Amino acid sequence: MIDKLNKIKEEALKELEELSTTEDFNEIKVKYFGKKGAFTTIMKELGNVVAEKRKEMGQVANIIKNELQVKFDERNSLIKEAIKKKKIETETIDITLPGKVIEKSSLHPLTKTLIDIKEIVSEMGFDIVDGPEVEEVQLNFDALNIPKTHLSREITDTFYITDDVVLRTQTSPVQIRYMKEHKPPFKMISIGKVYRPDYDVSHTPMFHQIEGLMVGEDVSFANFKAMLESIVQRIFGSDRNVRFRPHFFPFTEPSAEMDVECGVCKGKGCRLCKHTGWLEILGSGMVNIKVLEAGDIDGNKYQGFAFGMGVERITMLKYGIDDLRAFFENDIRFLEQF
Ligand code: DAH
Repeated sequence: MIDKLNKIKEEALKELEELSTTEDFNEIKVKYFGKKGAFTTIMKELGNVVAEKRKEMGQVANIIKNELQVKFDERNSLIKEAIKKKKIETETIDITLPGKVIEKSSLHPLTKTLIDIKEIVSEMGFDIVDGPEVEEVQLNFDALNIPKTHLSREITDTFYITDDVVLRTQTSPVQIRYMKEHKPPFKMISIGKVYRPDYDVSHTPMFHQIEGLMVGEDVSFANFKAMLESIVQRIFGSDRNVRFRPHFFPFTEPSAEMDVECGVCKGKGCRLCKHTGWLEILGSGMVNIKVLEAGDIDGNKYQGFAFGMGVERITMLKYGIDDLRAFFENDIRFLEQF
């Protein structure tokens, strides 16, 4: 049996000497050490050897096997070395080939609108503040004079975390937070994410709102109108007419919505403006006395105005984008256009 093993070893070594490719190496390895390989088969036969001789023969067999293993490993390294050397010798790098183009885009259109608006309002002296996205029901609804039975409180319109805590549905609660911490006169603006359970071409469960508030002893409806007109004309361009329409909001009295002249048809009427010539862009009004008082401000001494607008809506109208969902897909072909 030992002779047989030695013979196999001789043969294997000879074959090893002659081969030069990884493929041949693998083939020979299988031939000797594979499941049905010559070496494996003979090692199995060891089981049939009489017990007294088995131990000794096993040891010899293992020595031969180990020697052979070492030779196999050496040969394998040599082959790999040779292949690498050949590759280094024959391969060239063409440094004149153009590199891979790294795709780059520009600012996201929403970011652009946010930057523009922040710049406009800070020049006008507004304090830019943040508020929490997880908000108390008391601040998101009650303090804003929104009745307990109001539809906007339903679970179909609001994401509730507990009975008393929601994902804010509007940036208006930041008004209350600000009033509680500041003495008038002041002008503040807050920009941030708001959440509502909607999803279609013109609604996404998360969107951005801008909230503005100005309070002072003699802040009048005339100030309010002039201020908003100038903000909106700076966003859309001074050639665009604006108009106020009476409306209702629980937190303001009187309330108004503001429209900007349609940029596509210049007020003549088209599909975008539903043939009215106007696009609705914000809600606003003189702050309801109950809201001032919820913010610990003396409603007999001070008055103010507030406004709220959707950042996505403004951006869509400004750039003529017709599907809100495009903002959130991050398709570089869309983003590149801005
Ligand atoms: N919070 C309102 C909304 O989400 C927008 C709004 C309207 C805010 C009028 C105001 C306001 O501050 O005065 O639809």
